[in-house]
Amino acid sequence: MGLSIIVATNKDNVIGVKNDLPWELPKDLKYFSKITKGQTVVMGKTTFESIQSRIGKPLPGRKNVILAFEKDYKVEGCEVVNDWESVIDLAKTDDVFIIGGAMVYKTALPYANTLYITEVSAEIKNADCWFPKINYPEWELTQEDPQSKDENNPYDMNFKVYKRKKPIEFLDFEHARTPEQIALMKKIEKDGLCPFCEKYFKKYHPNKILKETSNWMVSENMSPYAGTKLHLIIVYKEHAIMPGEIKPEAYAELSEIFKWAEKKYKLKAGSFFMRFGDTCYTGGSVNHAHIQFLLGSAKSDDANKDKLKVKLGYKKKSI
Ligand SMILES: NC(=O)c1ccc[n+]([C@@H]2O[C@H](COP(=O)([O-])OP(=O)(O)OC[C@H]3O[C@@H](n4cnc5c(N)ncnc54)[C@H](OP(=O)(O)O)[C@@H]3O)[C@@H](O)[C@H]2O)c1
Ligand SMILES: [Zn+2]
Repeated sequence: MGLSIIVATNKDNVIGVKNDLPWELPKDLKYFSKITKGQTVVMGKTTFESIQSRIGKPLPGRKNVILAFEKDYKVEGCEVVNDWESVIDLAKTDDVFIIGGAMVYKTALPYANTLYITEVSAEIKNADCWFPKINYPEWELTQEDPQSKDENNPYDMNFKVYKRKKPIEFLDFEHARTPEQIALMKKIEKDGLCPFCEKYFKKYHPNKILKETSNWMVSENMSPYAGTKLHLIIVYKEHAIMPGEIKPEAYAELSEIFKWAEKKYKLKAGSFFMRFGDTCYTGGSVNHAHIQFLLGSAKSDDANKDKLKVKLGYKKKSI
């Protein structure tokens, strides 16, 4: 049970050239076989076809699962699945190894508990395929096994194993504010998916998307903070935990969203802030980076008025 990634890459995260591996390293292929033999291996269609053209058949001695959007794609001796949710389901019963390529690694990285990384000391000039950026503070190096180059293996290698330091938790129930939110979060937790990644936000979030750009989705918050006259949530489409993972052009795109909101809601004022990362620190219920955009009522002498309070983290009670 669980999800691991196995990949060979260099210091620049290169994994492929022209739909093939950038290197010939029999020692690494042997290591790959040793780790994955008898297990379930999941690969994208392009990687499967690259394996097929190398060895003429699926990987022997393993349950081969191919991810393909193409609905009627069939291969003898392999299982074909059409969405990532099916892989998550498989990982509830099998030890699943994600074996590439770039597109599948990118989807899989937030869900993996173990990374088997063969670090290859090679410079690759014509690379066209990369492993996604790893946020190393989330991972602990538990094993390494350096290998020197030899007559059959032209580059030094290091077989490294990283384990996730904390179990994957996309959601924080302690910070949920309403029973509806808790009910929905329970369903999402059972499905094992990140509720703010584009596909799943569109699937689970009950309110409609009001504005969409290449990188962001805007909707009304399903549980607005008490007293807000307007409470929007602006969610980054790709999985990102830290603001540094968000593409620079996505920050520029926020200007389009702010202009749209100012006009649509005839705003004279408002506040916004981003929650990101470990929810223990932020008071958020989801760790995927997102922006809260809100407006309360105006200050007045009304004795019933109170300041709008928002949890942004924790402090000692005495301060
Ligand atoms: N260095 C390494 O360890 C390593 C390991 C593996 C691969 N590679 C390299 O990686 C490269 C291939 O990577 P790639 O990114 O081009 O292709 P890929 O990830 O192998 O396959 C992409 C294809 O898989 C299907 N797919 C991916 N995600 C899906 C999802 N969530 N739901 C349904 N179908 C999905 C789609 O097929 P359709 O849309 O066509 O149906 C998509 O076009 C090659 O150069 C290969 O040699 C390197
Ligand atoms: Zn996400």
